[in-house]
Amino acid sequence: MPTSSVAAFVAAVPKVELHLHLIGSASLETVLALARRHPGRGVPTEPDALRRFYAFTDFGHFLRVYHRVNRLVTTGADVVTLLEGLAAELARRAVRYAEVQVTPVRNRMAGIPYADLAAALADGRALARERHGVELGWVFDADTTLGPAGAEETVDFAIGHRPEGTVGIGLGGPEGGVRRADFAPAFRRAIAEGLHSVPHAGETVGPEEVWAAVTELRAERIGHGIGSAADPRLLEHLAERGITLEVCPVSNLRTGAVEDIAAHPLPRLVAAGVPVTLATDDPGMFHTDLEAEYLVCHEAFGMSVAELADIARAGARAAFCSPELRAELLAGIDRAEAAHA
Ligand code: ADE
Ligand code: ZN
Repeated sequence: MPTSSVAAFVAAVPKVELHLHLIGSASLETVLALARRHPGRGVPTEPDALRRFYAFTDFGHFLRVYHRVNRLVTTGADVVTLLEGLAAELARRAVRYAEVQVTPVRNRMAGIPYADLAAALADGRALARERHGVELGWVFDADTTLGPAGAEETVDFAIGHRPEGTVGIGLGGPEGGVRRADFAPAFRRAIAEGLHSVPHAGETVGPEEVWAAVTELRAERIGHGIGSAADPRLLEHLAERGITLEVCPVSNLRTGAVEDIAAHPLPRLVAAGVPVTLATDDPGMFHTDLEAEYLVCHEAFGMSVAELADIARAGARAAFCSPELRAELLAGIDRAEAAHA
């Protein structure tokens, strides 16, 4: 099938985005406007310089840049602006449902009181639905650099404020030298309150920490999880339990988590029967969007429309959305596939 026809399918098929960070979703224009308002905070105020600022030498460098941008988002109104831009972009890409990772402790450190953050998320969610027809869910993620105490504070926010649309608890930040098990008490408390467990694991480290995410954090889905490919027994376990990996190929390239796209383990994960959903992670910083992620799978891994439709179905099944929306998504995927047969 010619690529243009695949691109038409990818554009039309109703999609979900299950791994996307609020701060990392900000467009270049939005970040430039914020940087000009806070000129002393180490983020470039001109487009070319900002593009160069977003060329990452490795994963640690990416996280340092990410935190500088985080420090520009200082009010509830800024959060609503980010969500408005995000919802418009999702609607452009036929994304009907997205789960957004928000790091409340980092937002608090940047100056946003928790009550303001909760109110901004409520306003942004309503606006996304009313103006763009996009449903948003929240995953509140702890940052490993803030340790178990930061994770407890994250859970306090999630269950204390519980903005409408709250679906999960996450864990992001650096992975090297971090034991996921140390975060188990905070995750247990969140799970007991009905939150889903969706930590990052195996983005830049091997399968041991994916095992820890599954056994210690009771992960139902895993952010990235590409390190799993080195352990056939883990792949079998993920496949048997239906634990979905939220795979972000362009992110992995831009942060240096994989050296080149040909070496990306996504095809091996799919071949092992592991449910895989595609996501953008930090699209504003990685110059990507969800259509581009699907097209990478076609162009670099040779995936057909039928295989891309299966990826879209895996996302709809793994989403913590309403059963009605899931059924609508699955029916829409069938229709889009049939139209391009
Ligand atoms: N925070 C934002 N993006 C992240 C990523 N890709 N991994 C871990 N933490 C993050
Ligand atoms: Zn992430």
